[in-house]
Amino acid sequence: MPVFSPSFLQELSSRVSIVSIVGQTVKLKRRGNEYWGCCPFHHEKTASFSVSDEKEFYHCFGCGEHGNVFNFVQKAMGMTFIEAVEYLAHQAGMEIPRATPEEFERERRKKGLTEALETACQFFEEQLQKPAGRPGLYYLQQRGLTAETIKRFRLGYAVPGNALKALLTREGFSEDVLREAGLISKSADSDSFYDYFRNRVMFPIMDRRGKVIAFGGRVLDNGEPKYLNSPDSPVFSKGENLYALHLSGDQARKKQEIIVVEGYMDVIAMAQAGINRAVAPLGTALTERQIELLWRYAPEPLCSFDGDGAGQKAAARAAERVLPLLKPGYSLRFITLPDDLDPDEFIQERGVTALEDFLQTQYRPLFKQLWQMLLNGRDLSTPERKAGLKKDIEEELNKIANQDVRHYYRQEFRDALQKLFAPESSVAAAPRLFKHGKAKRSDHTLIPERGSEEFNRFWADPVTHPSLIADHNETRMLLAYLLLFPDIGSDFLEDLAGWTAPSPELGRDLALLLEALSTDPDLSADRLKEHLRLTGQDQLYASLSAELEMLHRKKILPYEAKSDLTELLKGMHKKALRTELQRLAERIAAASSDDAALLWEQYQNLLKEEKESE
Ligand code: UTP
Ligand code: MN
Repeated sequence: MPVFSPSFLQELSSRVSIVSIVGQTVKLKRRGNEYWGCCPFHHEKTASFSVSDEKEFYHCFGCGEHGNVFNFVQKAMGMTFIEAVEYLAHQAGMEIPRATPEEFERERRKKGLTEALETACQFFEEQLQKPAGRPGLYYLQQRGLTAETIKRFRLGYAVPGNALKALLTREGFSEDVLREAGLISKSADSDSFYDYFRNRVMFPIMDRRGKVIAFGGRVLDNGEPKYLNSPDSPVFSKGENLYALHLSGDQARKKQEIIVVEGYMDVIAMAQAGINRAVAPLGTALTERQIELLWRYAPEPLCSFDGDGAGQKAAARAAERVLPLLKPGYSLRFITLPDDLDPDEFIQERGVTALEDFLQTQYRPLFKQLWQMLLNGRDLSTPERKAGLKKDIEEELNKIANQDVRHYYRQEFRDALQKLFAPESSVAAAPRLFKHGKAKRSDHTLIPERGSEEFNRFWADPVTHPSLIADHNETRMLLAYLLLFPDIGSDFLEDLAGWTAPSPELGRDLALLLEALSTDPDLSADRLKEHLRLTGQDQLYASLSAELEMLHRKKILPYEAKSDLTELLKGMHKKALRTELQRLAERIAAASSDDAALLWEQYQNLLKEEKESE
């Protein structure tokens, strides 16, 4: 890394005008010795951002951002310090003094590598359009890529043999340079070098300014490895670059959203479909450096990793890695596409609009991702295991370096834990529908024993029993929750027993589930499914498929299921009370005076219950 002398930096800073540099991106107005505009670092309508050539400094009185011209170029243009210095030196027409001869030598070598890589890229591109490149071209076309996309991403084809080595040698590149660039490699059994990429579709990897720094090559069949990537070199390090950042950066910054996907083909398919703000890591898990890089484009990059084991592991790695880096306003978000589809396949199967929709609505904030990881497959049935969870949470919290962020994460975890281990109180807050009925009605209206003939008839008949009648859609939703979260549902058994279903069919389904749930309060969703299958009742899944799919899509966690159910029952209760009150009022109007007195009493009770449940 070049070290710039302080005197050179001072000289450079004084030679460029910070006002004109800032003025390239921010509209400035003069006031006295200073210039003012709307701050590019936070959203504002009135100008509180000041720039001064005299002080060689900018400062925002709104958000507190301030710094010198190097800071500004770094922040506003997403450059590293070195790039900012190079950029400004170029603007000022200044030579950058090289610190040492070694440095000079290194730069010269890098230049050689870069030139070799660019020449190779052009060669691969040309080959793709020649007869020798047909297999590659057909392959890309069959994957749906247009000529325009192929050009935009500079896709190419590496022919079998050593054509690249021959060409580059002819052009005067030394074996050393080609080896260092990762374009040739020595075979194990001989001393000669051969082309590293052969018989592969070539995806050039560029740096942020569009310079070719490496390649990924994909086989056309099922060969191994599927993608071969250039080794790290003086101009390329896997962990510090992102695929297609040079093409996606602008849109990402404009939209303040950048999407990280796993594969090169995902980035390309998305771009072709109009989503021009995706990038991909380069065959490794997302690194700290890449996260910092992403943050220069958008504060909450969206990681869309595949639903398979590898993808979810990559998501977990990223979530762990970002913790020490978190700072106010900056995070990661996560999304998992359904049915193990990758973005490329999702677009092919369901279209780009569906993908955009999904991306905008179905992501998880980092907190939820962590919570899911912590709970995943965990048994929390004993006090020790609960304490174990708490300890693991503490460990995660300790990884967060920023105090403020850690503080809020602690709060969030505390809330989540509280909900998860909610004492019966939250359940008790759910409606008890039979309270009034039990007290008022004679024996035969008490709930019959589960499973008995009478019980089934009871549930199947919504009319003769004047208990509260559930709303149709809500009952279906309730059933879906019970299918997916039977163990949580069993906490609500008592409340559920008070419901009358809106139709005999739904009544039967509800009775069926309640019966299953009451036999085993820890029943898992899988065992319930098995049970229903064995008893020939599994058509339930098909008839509730819409509700089930919705719940799957929302990826609800157990603690959420619990509060959802509480809310659902509360809502159902309220609605049903209203309906019942209405019905009673009508009956009172039409009843004989004796009956009316009785009904009136019921009416008052219900009214009281309604007030209490507010
Ligand atoms: P995937 O296996 O998910 O591939 O690898 P993909 O992008 O869906 O590929 P297609 O659609 O079959 O062409 C995701 C990414 O992981 C890296 C590559 O960067 C790839 O884009 N990878 C994968 C490798 O580096 N080597 C491999 O052998 C496989
Ligand atoms: Mn794919």
